[in-house]
Amino acid sequence: MRSLISSLDLSKGDVQGILKIAKEIKEGKVPKLEGNVVLLFLEPSTRTRLSFERACRELGLEASVVTGSESSLVKGESFFDTLKTFEALGFRCVVFRVPFVFFPYEDAVRSLKISLINAGDGTHQHPTQGLVDLFTLVEKLGDLSGVRVLYVGDITHSRVFRSGAPLLRMFGAEVSVSGPKNLIPRDVKVFGIEKVFDSVDEGIEWADVVIWLRIQKERQREKLIPSEEGYFKNFGLTKERYSKIKKFFMHPGPVNRQVDMEGELVYSEKSLIYEQVKNGVFVRMAVLRWCLEDG
Ligand code: CP
Repeated sequence: MRSLISSLDLSKGDVQGILKIAKEIKEGKVPKLEGNVVLLFLEPSTRTRLSFERACRELGLEASVVTGSESSLVKGESFFDTLKTFEALGFRCVVFRVPFVFFPYEDAVRSLKISLINAGDGTHQHPTQGLVDLFTLVEKLGDLSGVRVLYVGDITHSRVFRSGAPLLRMFGAEVSVSGPKNLIPRDVKVFGIEKVFDSVDEGIEWADVVIWLRIQKERQREKLIPSEEGYFKNFGLTKERYSKIKKFFMHPGPVNRQVDMEGELVYSEKSLIYEQVKNGVFVRMAVLRWCLEDG
């Protein structure tokens, strides 16, 4: 039994194993697992929650969904006590999405006899999204050595960036960022990124693949972009910028049309947005199997 809280805990061998299982599943070799899983979603989600629900169903796992307003967390029970309760109820695994950062987590993981899968915790990590993005790019491009990937937008609040960038770098990609200065963390270089582009247009010129991120208004303590129109003009995906993208662009979703990108580009030829959504089911099935299957 394993847990997946942060993509930083994964070795290259772990990631290669998960990608191999996801590929086999996508090709029709679906393993069967037994047991019960809790999907604890304290924040809104369409893609992650439904792909975990589908993943459980396809694998033969029984999934119980608990949302914020339905759990006893609203009555003051702690997160750890909630996890202990799931363990005592006989569940094998908890997939959780929470608005707070689950860190440090090592002691909690060690003391629980239940597998934990992070489906997004505050601004910290969203490792299955990082794996989905890696899987999608490997599927499209094969070897990622030297492939240049640019993340654009609200880097500071992005758990998608924090999860995805280390995985892409692990497989040889070069990663850079672009966004408003106040949405780029001061210590962004600790993520091993190549460049910080003040101009998204220069970033697009540098990149092979561009990953646009959503402005995380719900996580900003103050209004950090003066206007959505101004943000779109300076950093959004316009038709002109689209014409300069060398290979593909991605977005973890949900997309804010006319803020992150021009609406009609969501379905364009260079968009991998719905490939990411489809691969979400296969990759989450692979993560469940990697966490739950002995050996
Ligand atoms: N990418 C992502 O986590 O989407 P949801 O919030 O819809 O799950």
